[in-house]
Amino acid sequence: MLPDAARLRARVEQTAAEILARAGYERIATPSFEDTELFERGVGHSTDIVRKEMFTFEDKGGRSLTLRPEGTAPICRAYVEHGMQALAQPVKLAYAGPFFRHERPQAGRYRQFHQLGAEAIGSDSPLADAELIGLLAEILAELGVPGVKLHLGSLGSFEARQAYLAELKEHLRANEGELSKEVRERIDANPLRAFDSDDEGTQAVMATAPKLVERLEGEDAEHFAAVRALLDAAGVAYVIDPTLVRGLDYYTRTIFSFVCDRLGAQSEIGGGGRYDGLVEQLGGKPTPAVGWAAGIERIMLALDEEQAAPGRDVFIAVAEGGQELRARAHVLAGELRKAGFSAEIDLGGRGLKGQFKQADRVGARRVVILESEGAQLRDMSSGEQRSVDTGNLIEEITADNPVEETAGGEA
Ligand code: HAM
Repeated sequence: MLPDAARLRARVEQTAAEILARAGYERIATPSFEDTELFERGVGHSTDIVRKEMFTFEDKGGRSLTLRPEGTAPICRAYVEHGMQALAQPVKLAYAGPFFRHERPQAGRYRQFHQLGAEAIGSDSPLADAELIGLLAEILAELGVPGVKLHLGSLGSFEARQAYLAELKEHLRANEGELSKEVRERIDANPLRAFDSDDEGTQAVMATAPKLVERLEGEDAEHFAAVRALLDAAGVAYVIDPTLVRGLDYYTRTIFSFVCDRLGAQSEIGGGGRYDGLVEQLGGKPTPAVGWAAGIERIMLALDEEQAAPGRDVFIAVAEGGQELRARAHVLAGELRKAGFSAEIDLGGRGLKGQFKQADRVGARRVVILESEGAQLRDMSSGEQRSVDTGNLIEEITADNPVEETAGGEA
């Protein structure tokens, strides 16, 4: 990641961190790799992630380890291992960091990518679903991501889903000849993934397949209705998507996907859902939970921002090439930085004209020009220039440029 992208990424991460912190989501970080079994059990043996996309290796002790392809299973592992069930529930967590999947790289799809995410573990309330969905909507809106649409669905609980799955498998078998090889092979293991296929024959079969949201009953139907009502009340727009499925096996009830029409083939900017069985599956007590993750690179692609110069409070130039003036510039820059200003000097031996060019490139708001006798202070936006007393420079700059407003330059 190069500096222009780093500045945008810092803005994305900061915006998310602030919005999540205001809602009480505390930061968590898990290791870059974990026991392979965690992902096999957590994400699911029949998923693409586990079947084909994990970077798995053996350590010197012969243990199988995997670079984390996602963050939810590791967080649930940490929740169980560190006794977080003893804390006030739900435990609300936020994270950002690198993840790894051995996929075919293309725009918006990388083998190392970055997610930001949030999880609420220990609440079965539809309020938790609605809160989390609302927070991702708010983050994307605050960042100004254009063309975002929220798709909402529900998978029902594991138990309630079984009757539907039997019906779906029957439909797939009745039309087996038209299905892609991959879907045909997974009729038993993962029939829901057929909804996600880009194979034309499969898509035609799925158009007439029974839909799970239309089969929801009892508490599953009530939960879905409550989530929708909460989103309506909060003014979060969504479309119900009866064909929505996700690439991880742990989801129950609510699932959602934020897509962006500026992203081409990899259009999902973020998504998630409820995973009421995962903590128990990883050895904890039965614990309902819900969360999401969003792709930082995809957010950055969608923003497609032209990066402005980074911005500095002061650039200190020297009027002549002598070492003495350059040494004074070096000392003065240190003093300005200690006083809270962002300040740069020329490290490239440029002449005065070159130093002004450099000041422009870094977006300096003012340039101090050190002369053998005295100094000039130039405001780069107005072009105004005046003599200043070098003994008094920090006071002069502080007077028309209070540190609180400008320290660190523009983000
Ligand atoms: P996921 O849908 O697999 O969910 O990934 C979440 C987001 O990560 C995607 O929407 C996408 O923006 C980004 N992403 C995924 N793969 C790549 C890639 N190869 N290159 C770039 N971006 C990518 C999860 O990972 C779940 N853990 C989400 C979750 C949290 N569910 C509940 N809690």
